[in-house]
Amino acid sequence: MKKTVTTFQKLKNEHKKITMLTAYDHSTAKLLDEAGVDSILVGDSLGNVILGYKNTLPVTVEDVIHHGKAVVRGTTDALVIIDMPFMSYQTSVYDAVVNAGRIIKETGAAAVKLEGGAGMCPQIKAIVGASIPVVAHLGLTPQSINAFGGFKIQGKDENTAQKIFDDAKAVEAAGAFALVLECVPSRLAGLITDTLSIPTIGIGAGSSCDGQVLVYQDMLGMTADTAPKKFVRKYAEVGEIMVSAFKDYISDVQSGAFPSAEHEYDISDDVIEKIY
Ligand code: KIV
Repeated sequence: MKKTVTTFQKLKNEHKKITMLTAYDHSTAKLLDEAGVDSILVGDSLGNVILGYKNTLPVTVEDVIHHGKAVVRGTTDALVIIDMPFMSYQTSVYDAVVNAGRIIKETGAAAVKLEGGAGMCPQIKAIVGASIPVVAHLGLTPQSINAFGGFKIQGKDENTAQKIFDDAKAVEAAGAFALVLECVPSRLAGLITDTLSIPTIGIGAGSSCDGQVLVYQDMLGMTADTAPKKFVRKYAEVGEIMVSAFKDYISDVQSGAFPSAEHEYDISDDVIEKIY
């Protein structure tokens, strides 16, 4: 059944957990959809895991549109949400609406996600005012990596915890339909989850959140060197399986074991005999 923004609210109201994973291409989106995930996030983590940048800052609107289109084409039921890249919405309310509009129009996704709290509420209101659903994102917001001075847990002291709590209430009031909480203490995430009417989706924010999201390469063991150790559970060692399969292929090609007769196309003797 097709999931929509109202599915998210229904799941929260019924105390059922919301599942979300990232995807950046057609074949992965198809597999996630087949598995029954509620939502697929075309995260700007594509900068790290697909494009090889050291952070998300270089990702462009064109990048997320390119990957977002592929994901939407591979998805039947899951709600597709696309990240708004760094500097595609911070610059002005106008830019935010124009870029959110482009992302939705050109990809066919259902919603956008953007990072920030009270300071981004004018952008959230305007995008929602243009009938584009918005997911907010608080805590360790990777687009603020330079301001934070590194990838660190957020909201550990009273001031920053209060700020995240106030920001959560502000983004809900501005019209966000869900809130991603990244790398915040689980009891703070629990307090926010109990206070807000909209669902919270946690990543490194504990089990009280209304749902969970992970970068799929992290949970499949494809990003051995870079996956966050603390909050990712590896559900498979797909990286190891891939390397082993690549090695088998290399050795079969080198030895002549692949391709074998069953992989070859035949031609009739009377045709081949006329070729000179
Ligand atoms: O970009 C991303 O993948 C994200 C999730 C990790 C929440 O923002």
